[in-house]
Amino acid sequence: MLAAMFDAEKAVADFVRFGSVSADPSAKAGMDGAVRFLSELLRRHCGCEVEVVPTPGHPVVIGRRGGDPAWPHVVVYGHYDVQPQDPLDEWNTPPFEPVVKNGFMYGRGTADDKGPLMVHIAAFAKLLEAYPDFPVRATFLVEGEEEVGSVNLAAVMEAKKEELAGDFVLMSDTNNAGPDDATITTGLRGLACLEVILRGPKQDLHSGINGGPVMNPIRALAKLCAGLHDEKGRVTIPGFYDAVRPALDWEKAELARMGDNVEAYKKLLGVPAFVTPEGYGVFESRSFGPTLEYNGITGGYQGPGSKTIIPAKASVKISCRLVPDQEGEAILDLVDKAIRARCPQGVTMEIIHHSAGDPYVVLPPHLSGEGLDSAKARAFAAADREVRASFGNPPHYLREGGSVPILSDIRRILGMDALMLGVALPDSCMHSPNENLSLEVFRRCTKVSEAIWKAVARK
Ligand code: BES
Ligand code: MN
Ligand code: MN
Repeated sequence: MLAAMFDAEKAVADFVRFGSVSADPSAKAGMDGAVRFLSELLRRHCGCEVEVVPTPGHPVVIGRRGGDPAWPHVVVYGHYDVQPQDPLDEWNTPPFEPVVKNGFMYGRGTADDKGPLMVHIAAFAKLLEAYPDFPVRATFLVEGEEEVGSVNLAAVMEAKKEELAGDFVLMSDTNNAGPDDATITTGLRGLACLEVILRGPKQDLHSGINGGPVMNPIRALAKLCAGLHDEKGRVTIPGFYDAVRPALDWEKAELARMGDNVEAYKKLLGVPAFVTPEGYGVFESRSFGPTLEYNGITGGYQGPGSKTIIPAKASVKISCRLVPDQEGEAILDLVDKAIRARCPQGVTMEIIHHSAGDPYVVLPPHLSGEGLDSAKARAFAAADREVRASFGNPPHYLREGGSVPILSDIRRILGMDALMLGVALPDSCMHSPNENLSLEVFRRCTKVSEAIWKAVARK
């Protein structure tokens, strides 16, 4: 028996109250709470048998609503973990006490990914309320380590290959172009993360007694970093762009259809100017171009006042966003070799490889030329139709700058493509203070999801 009447917005708020920060060992209670809450929800409202699969890190929640093996099988992917809440003093309301104001729900995880995941849970729950024998098998595959690189999910998928392989993945973990501009994401960038540590003297030195002959590790690191981009904004590592495949004409046209409101984008981000790499437009560089970024740099004295030292070490965390056909591991090697070859004199270098994931593209069936009668193709067609009805505009088919690296593993291991329906907005403040979810977009997307489930059911 299913419990009656699923209240989707309340469920998002209740889910957000569990501070499930995967990166923070002290947030264990929040992680456990989120797992329990989600398991209960899937059991009560989605007719699921739930398995909480332990991993060396955070568990994977798998909810299965089976049925006739002849029914189509949809796999919903999402993540119950969230990014750390800091800087806490920049939040207008506490991150794990969701508040609704002017049609937006504020809280960490509202947009990434608890709200968006709830779209598909809510749509399926509503359909089961109306049609208890709804003829679609559903598996909800929800991990707790997306924000820390999905380190253990691939092994779980390998171990449960047969039961997890379905017709396609239905997910929401990406952005819409705007509140009336629903977006079906056709690609995400890959990611290669590493850390470079430069060591000079065996311990911090007095900068007066020893300053002169000694290479300062911060100076060495600054020089190294400064050399990784040229004046045209391009990465100077040999071979970095070799595998980059140019965007297709329709992709460029679809992006151009968005208009080119560079001023509004500057304002949204609060930057005085853009430094777009040569060869790309501002928006093209996010969708179609690779990057090399510094995520954090440290070394020496960071306390109040001044201190006169030559520090023993300095380090930087680097991430590269990758586009087809660059490969995560290959770029890690390339960057590693290039940086080693440029190690300044007077310091030693250590490089730690953190993670690598490949870029991902998925062409909607009406553009790829594949058959239109598969469950996946019916789902894409229904999404297109219902977006027009609910948003008053056709969907945008865009590649996005962010990454969900597990998608290429899902394709490799389980042989499924993903239908990515945007729920968040460009100003949803994912990973930032005052993260929020537009409840209007949430409702519209829930209708789109319902239409997708129904189209899958209808042979
Ligand atoms: N949901 C985001 C990815 C995203 C956001 C894609 C907006 C497209 C539009 C996801 O949770 C995320 O933050 N991914 C990380 C991956 C990393 C932690 C391995 C990212 O992109 O930095
Ligand atoms: Mn996410
Ligand atoms: Mn995220």
